[in-house]
Amino acid sequence: MEPEKEKKKMMGSSLLQTDSPTMVSGNNSYNYAHNSSAQRKMMDSVRPRTEELIAEKLDLERLLAAGGGNTFRVADLGCSIGPNTFHNVEHIVQQVRQKYNHMMMTSAAAASPSSAPEFQVFFNDQVNNDFNALFRSLPPERDYFAAGVPGSFHTRVFPNSSLHLAYSASSAHWLSRVPPEVVDRGSPAWNRGMIHYGSAPKPVEDAYRAQFRKDMGGFLRARSEELVSGGMLVLVFPGLPDGMLHSETQAGSVIYCVNLSILDLVRQGVLEEDQLDNFNLPIYFPHPWEMRELVEENQCFSCIELEVVSPESTWLQQGGVGLRGWAVAMRAGMEELFARHFGGEEILDRIFDGASQKIAERAEVIMNTKCKELPLLYVALQRK
Ligand SMILES: C[S@@+](CC[C@H](N)C(=O)[O-])C[C@H]1O[C@@H](n2cnc3c(N)ncnc32)[C@H](O)[C@@H]1O
Repeated sequence: MEPEKEKKKMMGSSLLQTDSPTMVSGNNSYNYAHNSSAQRKMMDSVRPRTEELIAEKLDLERLLAAGGGNTFRVADLGCSIGPNTFHNVEHIVQQVRQKYNHMMMTSAAAASPSSAPEFQVFFNDQVNNDFNALFRSLPPERDYFAAGVPGSFHTRVFPNSSLHLAYSASSAHWLSRVPPEVVDRGSPAWNRGMIHYGSAPKPVEDAYRAQFRKDMGGFLRARSEELVSGGMLVLVFPGLPDGMLHSETQAGSVIYCVNLSILDLVRQGVLEEDQLDNFNLPIYFPHPWEMRELVEENQCFSCIELEVVSPESTWLQQGGVGLRGWAVAMRAGMEELFARHFGGEEILDRIFDGASQKIAERAEVIMNTKCKELPLLYVALQRK
């Protein structure tokens, strides 16, 4: 293919619809903006790490020199509709500004006021994200220039060497598609009667892992081209400590309860067995060793931090009532995905009400789950 055509094709490929849903917006009780405080708390728990990272590892002088001006460009990948994204990017901008002020106070070179960096923040999400809702709620007092960038973060969405810091919160565990083998009746990985790999046989987990490798491989390749040399990539998303099974976590238990609720509806004849067999959640919770392997294969990044951090689960502390909050949070995050496959509001109410009921019945077991935290992977990489 001619280079120009190939380039156009590459840019267009990011606009394809993935299997992962966008978050609920609009006038809906499961609107993500009103049901994402758990994600916000998780990100707040890792703020001190990001502060330390920017203060100690970000080579601001080099980055601004590399950018050829005084604009510092930040991307939030998988921003959704707010408000968490604004909270997260404001924190980053504030920290980089502080770093600049500190640099100026301690540096021998006197800076003229006009050389203070200006910030441009790119809000990226899938094409069908409600960008209008996002733009309408942009903080009026912000001290950065804002732009929306539609397209899948598994592919290129920015020009070559254009970003100084790319950040992604609670998003990188979404796969671009359900692994095809898990809905293939002829495959040993056919996930009959199940909606995820947590409580499924090993070939199912292997198929999910292979899909994550493909997607995260593409994600890292794209970022390695988009970040300037010395630029940083910070990812925070649900993962698992090495050696732990997904079924040993609260998230695993909650997904299992949703699965049981759908199974009940199949038994009652409300849903077809096929509908259940053909439905799988496109999310994967990697272990640190898997991410490390992918970073090493990519070869373009130095690894600054790659570990599991485990904020204590407030849902678990609250007992059964808090656990049912999981079902609401899951619905806010996945309603579109369930609706696309199972149908409208009424059936979704039945699925999630049933899941809440199952969670209540099993609260004791879930509270005693092996993993009492919400394990997150914190990954900080520097472009070589
Ligand atoms: C749980 S929300 C997280 C939103 C926000 N970062 C936060 O911390 O609240 C996950 C977001 O990732 C987005 N997402 C999933 N797959 C994506 C992809 N391939 N490319 C871009 N965004 C994606 C979804 O559309 C969704 O808005």
